[in-house]
Amino acid sequence: MHHFFQGKTLRQAHKGIPEGHYEEEQGLKGFFGPVSHLVKKKPSTRWTQIDGPLKPRMFDCVELKASSGWQRTLFNEDVTIYFQDLEVDEKQLQSAIRNGDGDTLYFCHAGKGRIYSEYGLLTYSKGEYVCVPKGLTHSFVAEEPSRILIIENKTSHYEEPDRGVAGRNAIYDTQTIGRPDLDTMNAQIEGNESKWFKQVRVKRQDQWTTFTYEECYYDVVGWKGDLFPYTLHMDNIMPLMSHRAHLPPSAHTNFVARGFVVCSFLPRPLESDSDALKVPFYHQNIDYDEVLFYHDGDFFSRDNLHPGMMSLHPAGFPHGPHPKAVKGIGTKTHTEEYAVMVDTLKPLQVDESLDDVELSDYWKSWQG
Ligand SMILES: [Fe+2]
Repeated sequence: MHHFFQGKTLRQAHKGIPEGHYEEEQGLKGFFGPVSHLVKKKPSTRWTQIDGPLKPRMFDCVELKASSGWQRTLFNEDVTIYFQDLEVDEKQLQSAIRNGDGDTLYFCHAGKGRIYSEYGLLTYSKGEYVCVPKGLTHSFVAEEPSRILIIENKTSHYEEPDRGVAGRNAIYDTQTIGRPDLDTMNAQIEGNESKWFKQVRVKRQDQWTTFTYEECYYDVVGWKGDLFPYTLHMDNIMPLMSHRAHLPPSAHTNFVARGFVVCSFLPRPLESDSDALKVPFYHQNIDYDEVLFYHDGDFFSRDNLHPGMMSLHPAGFPHGPHPKAVKGIGTKTHTEEYAVMVDTLKPLQVDESLDDVELSDYWKSWQG
């Protein structure tokens, strides 16, 4: 379809919105498909009542218990999101896991520790992604109590984002990726072969099976190839931005899967043009369900949030900043938020584990 316009309109999206009006973006294919920008008298989030199952949802996952394994929260055919809490415990040196259902992307919300793998030793700390391809054996050993967000990719393999015109060193330089260190790991294991990592727990079709060995499973003396677990810390991600106009969330994509993407929202300067929209735009991301995990900092587009919460904005209705955030933007010059977003093509289901931690009035939070 060719471009067309009527009435009071914009020349550049997210800039020069007529005084006292609101822009709403309605777009297909997650900000890459056909798109229109509507100028409205009032935000479409001013609903007074919602009857039926479709509504914005918020979960205080700080209250979620996740100490006995991978606690499922949101899921569809392509992706499952879990939480796991790790205590400092010598028992972690006894077993390894292998995910036969898909690639596993871990995100450390709190804590730090080591990850043993057939490919060598990795470390993790707060704000770090750990990507373990499907079927690779590994063991998390917490050095501090840790909360881990787990994003399991069940129908494809994680790929890097397309950097397009920004060039190959944009977003993050591949030289900053944490690679496994086999020599350091083997030096640690030496002398402990009879005690460490004698069990391998394998997940396949969401069922766990334990394989037991007489000695340490990790015995690799060398390897070559381009398949291995790696880490990427948020501190090494260089957010793309334009100082003149707001970029869509897709600019912050770090991991691409067939049925979803994982993005990081990180501190950055706000747009400096006087007529630029400085809060996230009101929008309908028509094809995608949107999950946001609030990791750290000050979440400037939302009220009453604290780190560790997770929201689900299903497709089917517009969303955008809270009224207080719009009013409070004032003299702010930069954002201080750290968040992980998972946008999914297929609708997400909510596990009953979230029943007790849902904030039932969240849908009212756009009422000024
Ligand atoms: Fe959104």
